[in-house]
Amino acid sequence: MITIRPFRDEDAQTLSAIYRRAVQELGPKKYGSEQVAVWAGLEPSPARFTEIMNDGRCGLVAVDDSDQVVAFGDFERDGHIGFLYASPDVAGTGVVATLYAALEAKAKSQDVGKLYSEASELAKSFLLKQGFTVVERRDFEVNGVPIHNFAVEKRLRAPR
Ligand SMILES: CC(C)(COP(=O)(O)OP(=O)(O)OC[C@H]1O[C@@H](n2cnc3c(N)ncnc32)[C@H](O)[C@@H]1OP(=O)(O)O)[C@@H](O)C(=O)NCCC(=O)NCCS
Repeated sequence: MITIRPFRDEDAQTLSAIYRRAVQELGPKKYGSEQVAVWAGLEPSPARFTEIMNDGRCGLVAVDDSDQVVAFGDFERDGHIGFLYASPDVAGTGVVATLYAALEAKAKSQDVGKLYSEASELAKSFLLKQGFTVVERRDFEVNGVPIHNFAVEKRLRAPR
């Protein structure tokens, strides 16, 4: 059974490991090998994940029966989603949809007006199914390697 709970500092190492496996095993479904390599190079260390997840944002994890993290995501106070990553063991199973539903519910309870992100091809496919729309495609370079993602957003309430 999958449970959603807040990030804890002892999860940090698993977050780095999931990031690595997600990029290396799921990334190649939509990106070339050079692109996957530069993306993998952006992996936050466990210490960095501890900092990031404790900076005031909402960081949630999906855990299995053994309280092992299998997916994680976040949103900052302004609704920016910085991370949405799943272990390849659970990608495509609906676990991330459960995680996302919890993130959205929390954002609504905090009166966040919209959720938005710079989504990979994989995250774009997933988030479109959650009611997001694409604002624009973004093409850029990391270490000289051209790569792209998509600015996506979902309004949660009417703007004030
Ligand atoms: C983004 C992510 C969390 C979505 O979770 P998920 O459980 O894979 O979500 P979905 O099942 O809806 O899959 C999303 C897309 O990923 C691809 N995908 C996922 N699992 C796949 C698999 N086993 N085989 C082929 N494609 C797969 C598909 O393109 C799918 O879109 P589609 O259903 O329109 O074909 C997950 O794919 C992931 O961790 N990706 C790698 C990291 C990443 O891109 N994070 C976002 C950074 S901005």
